[in-house]
Amino acid sequence: MSTKAPANSQYLMNTYSRSNLVFDRGEGSWLIDSNGDRYLDFVAGIAVNCLGHSNPAIAETICNQSRQLMHISNLYFNTNQMALARKLAESAGLDQVFFCNSGTEANEAAIKLSRKYGGLSGNPSKNIILHMKDSFHGRTLGALSITGQEKYQECFRPLIGGTAQVDFNNIASLTAAMNDDICAVFIEPIQGESGVTPATVEFLSAARSLCEKYDALLIFDEVQCGMGRTGSLFAFEQFGVKPDAVTLAKGLGGGFPIGAVVANTKAGGAFVPSDHGSTFGGNPLACTVALTVLDQLENHSVISEVPVKNAYIIKRLNELKEKTPLISDIRGMGLILGIEFTSGAKEIIASCLDKKLLLISAGSNVIRLVPALTISLEELKLGLDILEEAISEPTT
Ligand SMILES: Cc1ncc(COP(=O)(O)O)c(C=O)c1O
Repeated sequence: MSTKAPANSQYLMNTYSRSNLVFDRGEGSWLIDSNGDRYLDFVAGIAVNCLGHSNPAIAETICNQSRQLMHISNLYFNTNQMALARKLAESAGLDQVFFCNSGTEANEAAIKLSRKYGGLSGNPSKNIILHMKDSFHGRTLGALSITGQEKYQECFRPLIGGTAQVDFNNIASLTAAMNDDICAVFIEPIQGESGVTPATVEFLSAARSLCEKYDALLIFDEVQCGMGRTGSLFAFEQFGVKPDAVTLAKGLGGGFPIGAVVANTKAGGAFVPSDHGSTFGGNPLACTVALTVLDQLENHSVISEVPVKNAYIIKRLNELKEKTPLISDIRGMGLILGIEFTSGAKEIIASCLDKKLLLISAGSNVIRLVPALTISLEELKLGLDILEEAISEPTT
C-alpha cells in the first residue's frame, strides 16, 4: 500500500483517518484498488453493503428506475414509496414510515417525533429524552446530543438540552431516571460503534415496561444492527421486545442512501404536515432500490443463511480464543460481531490490511466484523485465516 497521500486528497475536509488506498471498483465481498489488488472486505461500507458490491439486482434497479423517475419531492405520492412504507411497517408490526437519507437523519426525525409526542401529552415538561452511555446515534447536533460518548461531543457544545444519560444494560439506572417528564428512551439493541455490545433481553423488557408506565416512546436505533444483520430483518425480533419506533439506514439501501423511521400510530401519529420533512427523503429511486434490497434479503436466502455464517465465525473465533490470551471476549449476533482484545486491535487491523483483508474497529480494543450478508463460507474462511495469521504474528 502506498505511503503517499493520493492525488487530490487535499481537497477533502479532514474528517476521516483514511488509509491511502483508492477503490474505484468492487465485486461482491471484494474491493479492487487502483493497482488492481483485490481486498477481501469484512467492513462492507460500515455495515451498509448488505448484498455486497455491484450487486446485479441493485444495479439493474438503479438503471431501470433512473430512466423512469428519480425524484419528485414529497408534495406528491409515489407508488414505490408507498409500497416500501407498507413493506417496512408490516414487517416490523408497526404502522407508519418517515423516509430520509441517512441514519443520523432518521434519529433526528425520531427525536422531533419524541418531543412532539411529549408536547401532545399536555405535560409541558414532558420533553426529556433518555439515551444510553456508549451509544452512537449520529453526527448531526440532535443525534450527537443523545450519543453517549464524550469524545464525539466535546468540541461541539452546547448540545441540545433536555437529554439525560443512563447506563446501558443497567435496569436500576434506567428505573431511577424514568419519570413523567421523559418523552422517549433511545436504545441500540446492539451498540455497534462503541464495541458491538448487545442489550440484554431483561434490559429491553424493562425499558418496554417503564415506557408504558411513564407514557414514553421506546425507540430502537437499528441503523447498524437492523436489516437482516442479526439473522432477522429487525434486531428487536431477536429480543422479543417491540419498540414504538425503529430507525433504519445503512443496509436499507444496500449502498444507496436512504433512512427511515418506522413507528406505530401512537408515535407516528404525532406528526402533522410541516412538523418535519426532507427534500430528498423517500425519493422513488431510493425507495425502489430498498424494495429490491428487501426482496433479495428475504426471498433469496440471504437472511436465512446468516445463522450458518455466524456459527462458522463463532466456532473459528472460539478456537482462536483458546490459542491466544489476546482475545478477551467475542460478542454480537449474526453478522455483527465484535472481538475484544486485551491490547493491539489497531495493530492487528493494520497487519490484516497489509494482507489484503479490510477490517474496522469498534470502541477502543474491539475488531468489528460486519461483512456483506452475502459473503460466502469460503470467503469467511479466507478472512479468518488471515486474521489468525495476523494475531499469531509476534508483536515488535
Ligand atoms: C447505531 C447508529 N445510529 C446512527 C448512525 C449514523 O448513521 P449515518 O452515518 O448514516 O448518519 C450510525 C452510524 O454508524 C449508527 O451506527
